[in-house]
Amino acid sequence: MYADPVPLLAAEASPWLAVLGRFHPVVLHLPLGVLPATALLEFGALLLRRAPPRGAVLALAWLGALTGALAAGSGLLLAREPYGGDTVGQHQVLGLVLAALLLLAAVLALRAGRLPFRVVLAAALLVMVPAGHLGGSITHGADFLFAPLHRTAARAAPTAATASEYERIIAPLLERTCTKCHNPDKQKGDLLLTTREGMLAGGENGPVLVPGRPDESPLVTRCELPLDDDDHMPPADKPQPTAAEIAALRAWVAAGAPF
Ligand code: HEC
Repeated sequence: MYADPVPLLAAEASPWLAVLGRFHPVVLHLPLGVLPATALLEFGALLLRRAPPRGAVLALAWLGALTGALAAGSGLLLAREPYGGDTVGQHQVLGLVLAALLLLAAVLALRAGRLPFRVVLAAALLVMVPAGHLGGSITHGADFLFAPLHRTAARAAPTAATASEYERIIAPLLERTCTKCHNPDKQKGDLLLTTREGMLAGGENGPVLVPGRPDESPLVTRCELPLDDDDHMPPADKPQPTAAEIAALRAWVAAGAPF
């Protein structure tokens, strides 16, 4: 995997900061709860044509600003760890914008005029949605929300590969080039490739086989990487599958990985 040595060193130099950063996925839920509550009080009163409960709104607005700052701070610490990826950068920008809007809203809530406060509050709500979604994409994978739909579609699609193809091509391929290292006695990368359960359970970095989605299945993609790539499987000095075998592996996963 791509690993940037600098953030790793930073985490080693200040382990407590790293721990604080890892509280980000917990802390961020505070403003996610407080902000809609603030909006509900303020805009709910507006809809009911009543005066908003100013004291409660003010208290919530400042709670939002404080917890927003906590979430942003811990997020910045967490971003020093080597997650990488564009999603982290985009999530970071939106998260910082959201924290700034929360602070601005809290300041405006102190003033007599309601309109600027309401505009900023609505803007914060709008920014919260993509910021939260991108954050979720980082932890659950970009496709988390709609993956169940794709999976159903993959199952309904006519399957080119059949279970007998697994017996004929895939099992011998795994046996010849993979299971020397991914077996019950020697489970490299915490990955077991000798059983169906093992393949579906995945390895130390999560799933390796997503039926119907070869591009999201490291079982396929790591074999397709160039030989000199550190993540290429099997390791470069070991017996390699042929191009035709890798293509068959891809087709089998695309067809829903029937066993
Ligand atoms: C010579 C030993 C060896 C062989 C052979 C081998 N692997 Fe690996 N594999 C490893 C090691 C070590 C790791 C963990 C380090 C890493 O992530 O690169 C690993 C990790 C993996 C991972 C990532 C698991 C995770 O969650 O991090 C996948 C997927 C994988 N191997 C697939 C395969 C496939 C498919 C084959 C056969 C085509 C294969 N490996 C053959 C040693 C091997």
